[in-house]
Amino acid sequence: MTPAPVRVAVLVSGGGTNLQALLDALHSSPIARVTRVVSNRSDAGALARAQAAGVPTAVLRHPADGDELLAALGDAQLVVLAGYLKLVPRAVVSRFRGRMVNIHPALLPDFGGPGMYGHHVHEAVLASGAKESGVTVHFVDEAFDRGEIIAQERVPVKPGDTPDALAARVLEAEHRLLPRVVLDLARRLS
Ligand code: GRF
Repeated sequence: MTPAPVRVAVLVSGGGTNLQALLDALHSSPIARVTRVVSNRSDAGALARAQAAGVPTAVLRHPADGDELLAALGDAQLVVLAGYLKLVPRAVVSRFRGRMVNIHPALLPDFGGPGMYGHHVHEAVLASGAKESGVTVHFVDEAFDRGEIIAQERVPVKPGDTPDALAARVLEAEHRLLPRVVLDLARRLS
């Protein structure tokens, strides 16, 4: 009997272009399916993308409350943090150890950690004079951006780059890498 697609929950705080890349890639996949989207912000643009795709959504009242987050994740088998800006409570990290991943718009372990999100990351990369940047998908542990790295894709930093130009180039790489990593992990789980 063909196993049911792996149930994927996505945690979001922002516009949701990575969520959209996942929704598009997993839309009719027999391997994995986005089954719920959870946010700490009721005004996150990502929620509208989920609703447009017919995926149930939930908004957390207390993101630091592990029981509330576990309830919101429901029967998910795999959890993806796609632009989620809150620290995941310990109880949830241990429940989903090895089955929860985050995407970060830089080549970790550099340019990660508390406060390193969005344009702050790209500004720091440009200020450092680095010749390349990229994207990292890693397992989530109890600290921001520290978990074991699963995959990375490198992109060049070009002369005259602004934080926005670099962010746009990195985002394209994110939309390629995230669905690939999620499908690989789902294949291992099914
Ligand atoms: C992405 O750059 C992601 O790497 C970072 O937050 C941004 C979210 O973008 N963690 P979006 O909401 O998926 O468009």
